[in-house]
Amino acid sequence: MNLDFSQIAPSIPYILQGIGVTLKIVGVAAIIGFVIGILLALCKIGRFKGLKWFADIYTSIFRGTPLILQLLLIYYGTPQLFDIKVTAYTAAVLAFGFNSGAYISEIIRAGILAVDKGQLEASMALGIPYKKMMMDIVLPQALKNILPALMNEFITLTKESAIVTVIGVTDIMRRSYIVGGNTYRYFESLIFAGVIYYLMVIVLTLIGKAVEWRMRRSD
Ligand code: ARG
Repeated sequence: MNLDFSQIAPSIPYILQGIGVTLKIVGVAAIIGFVIGILLALCKIGRFKGLKWFADIYTSIFRGTPLILQLLLIYYGTPQLFDIKVTAYTAAVLAFGFNSGAYISEIIRAGILAVDKGQLEASMALGIPYKKMMMDIVLPQALKNILPALMNEFITLTKESAIVTVIGVTDIMRRSYIVGGNTYRYFESLIFAGVIYYLMVIVLTLIGKAVEWRMRRSD
């Protein structure tokens, strides 16, 4: 069998440097996605028809088209429209953030709706203002319940980030692909990238479990 990992050994530090690139994209995109997700979820359950419409259409479009298309549109399409230069990193963070926002909004909406109605009624009976009720009573409970689904989304984001390869970002994926080309050792370098992604997902899973455990402790 033609398998020799020592051939890619000198390139391992180069591939490992991609972890930082991937983490920077996923981290920032996750924050953008989370903020957009909360805002959209509030729009969806709110009283204003216009906002509800906007949030529904937003979700429908970002969920209904391929992420790679959104990425390419932002990277190659917007400079043509607005005469601005978008770096590959910015395009990646925006595309993943906008896309994830659509998915996260549905997760949060479900979480809010699952909070016991009695809580809302009690808050209203006590005269607690809507904003305070949401921030202090409903959202914290919703967050606890949706934690597994949110972790799922961040895991998806981590793996999907590999498509930034197509716009030239030197993340883990692109680096291992380059090393494969230089050494004619695609199998070894791609397997190495696979192991890195897998370990990152395992770490995310463990963090999720730890946070969940902490939150459930108060039950
Ligand atoms: N490959 C899917 C697409 O192109 C993934 C979308 C991203 N999913 C997510 N949960 N953020 O549409």
